[in-house]
Amino acid sequence: MRCEIVMTRNTDSLIAQISRLKTEKNAVILAHYYQTGDIQDTADFVGDSFALSRQAKDTGADVIVFCGVLFMAESAKILSPQKTVLLPVMDAGCPMADMVTPEDVKALRARHPGAAVVCYVNSSSAVKAVSDVCVTSSNAVKIVKALKGKQIIFVPDQNLGRYVASQAPEKEVILHSGYCPVHHNLTAREADNARAAHPAAALLAHPECTEAVLNKADFIGSTGQILRYAGQSSKKEFIIATEKGILHELGKNNPGKSFYPLTPELTCADMKKTRLSDVRDALLNGRHRIELDEDVMNRARRCLDRMLELA
Ligand code: 13P
Ligand code: SF4
Repeated sequence: MRCEIVMTRNTDSLIAQISRLKTEKNAVILAHYYQTGDIQDTADFVGDSFALSRQAKDTGADVIVFCGVLFMAESAKILSPQKTVLLPVMDAGCPMADMVTPEDVKALRARHPGAAVVCYVNSSSAVKAVSDVCVTSSNAVKIVKALKGKQIIFVPDQNLGRYVASQAPEKEVILHSGYCPVHHNLTAREADNARAAHPAAALLAHPECTEAVLNKADFIGSTGQILRYAGQSSKKEFIIATEKGILHELGKNNPGKSFYPLTPELTCADMKKTRLSDVRDALLNGRHRIELDEDVMNRARRCLDRMLELA
């Protein structure tokens, strides 16, 4: 009991410090739905990767504190180069983004000359700099369909790439072998078990899941799209096949509905690295500043701007 009171006081004090520092520095806090609940509640804006990119481009703040992972903060910097972008925990990365290099992209281009390179936003700025257009899970199908050519090289997520290919049969999609360890490890058997445990529930899945799991889903979409679908559905129960952090917003927005993660351990360790004290320290000490090579940034911006135009 005493321990809980002390924790609440500490949290209140951190939130008060963050709020004061934000005003002092004219800063905005952006957070992804996979962050912990207290970070989401402290943020000025919570969203999926696409909404966060738009927000980073349009904000009037001088400083963006990005509560997410490195590729997201890099995208914010590329889209708002004149702003200071801070990532509170520097080693909060994305294992999938690390699975593809600019050399891989160049090798694929050499093997498939004439194909357009579509890179998932979960990639480094260096990979974006050698790609033609960026996509997020919310707009990948639309953007691939809008491209003129038939051949598409899709990096790095094989699962999102395969899903896009299934929705755009007129295209020939060449896949890279990357994957998100959090989503890729979910199995069709686990989906069946969750359905057996919650027979009245709809299964909502992120397209980073394998085809075997997506085949079991009632709805496939980005985190933002899953939130919208659950809010509008007349169903009362949902099995969620994406990272558990989204349950915070799902629960807040839908008090009369129940949400069950597909498996209990559906957690992205990198997304969970950021704590309130890291956000406070980021604002206090201006760390960790995202600094990118000017040329890489300019080339990567073309790729992100093209996404914003086509989405
Ligand atoms: P979205 O929020 O765009 O669906 O992305 C999920 C993700 O894995 C981010 O790393
Ligand atoms: Fe990367 Fe997967 Fe974590 Fe998203 S959930 S940041 S894709 S490892």
